[in-house]
Amino acid sequence: MGTQIDLTGKVAVVTGVLGRLGAVWTDALLGAGADVVGIDRSVTVPPLLEETLSRHPEHRFQLLKADVTETDTLRAALDSCLATVGTPEILVNNAGIDQPPNTSGDSWRFGDIPAEVSASILDVNALGVLKTCQVFGAEMARGGAGSVINIGSLYGSMAPDPRLYEHLPQDPPFIKPPAYGMSKAGVAALTRYLAVLWGGQGVRVNTLSPGGVLGGQDAAFRGKFSDRVPLRRMAEATDLTGPLLFLASDLSSYVTGTELLVDGGYVCW
Ligand SMILES: NC(=O)c1ccc[n+]([C@@H]2O[C@H](COP(=O)([O-])OP(=O)(O)OC[C@H]3O[C@@H](n4cnc5c(N)ncnc54)[C@H](O)[C@@H]3O)[C@@H](O)[C@H]2O)c1
Repeated sequence: MGTQIDLTGKVAVVTGVLGRLGAVWTDALLGAGADVVGIDRSVTVPPLLEETLSRHPEHRFQLLKADVTETDTLRAALDSCLATVGTPEILVNNAGIDQPPNTSGDSWRFGDIPAEVSASILDVNALGVLKTCQVFGAEMARGGAGSVINIGSLYGSMAPDPRLYEHLPQDPPFIKPPAYGMSKAGVAALTRYLAVLWGGQGVRVNTLSPGGVLGGQDAAFRGKFSDRVPLRRMAEATDLTGPLLFLASDLSSYVTGTELLVDGGYVCW
């Protein structure tokens, strides 16, 4: 992408690295020269990440198995990271679960959403970020430098528009789980908390909140969503990399505790 940002010599940890955006963050960080330590629940590299890694033949990437809801696995991953590449200075808290309409046939009326569905979303998306910060972020604070980037969402600030899903055949009609936006609003609150806690120790903490990112959505959804966005389109992966590198690098040296919405202006109207 022709960036001038140089992260050579820095160790970046990316959670949820095997997912769609995990590959995007990895591509950007490797391209800027960072060593990337990816964390996920499995160690099977999917084609998307494989293809990303092949674009960086000199890549310094390792994949560690850990679950962001299990602190002991995160501690083991940190130990491995310290023993091989050293103290991380960039942490991208990206692991998350969502329930897009195309991944599951399940749909519920609001009052019937199973408690375990809500709990698991909050567990991974909110408490998982807290636990990862307790392990990796605290190590960065001990090291006296770093940038933590918590991946939030537009839906931490805005309610999902149910009309975007009206065309789907599910009965009852598909609704986004409310726990998703709750978890992402919680992430933005945690960002502010940690920005204050670690401000004196050289660690900055910010939220990067994407809007709708082009993926496997159906054409009707894409059309309705794009009409709702001032820039009239959904985000491409490459729309996200500049904001990530800005927050990861010294370009944002006086930016902490904030939420950078990368949403094409969705919240403006
Ligand atoms: N794709 C979008 O349109 C979009 C928009 C806004 C925000 N986001 C956020 O971006 C992040 C990444 O989204 P994505 O689209 O790449 O999702 P994805 O489902 O493709 O990938 C998520 C990854 O997180 C991993 N993961 C889940 N639970 C985990 C756990 N307990 N421990 C470790 N890893 C775990 C999964 O294995 C997966 O590899 C999420 O936090 C999501 O909420 C995505």
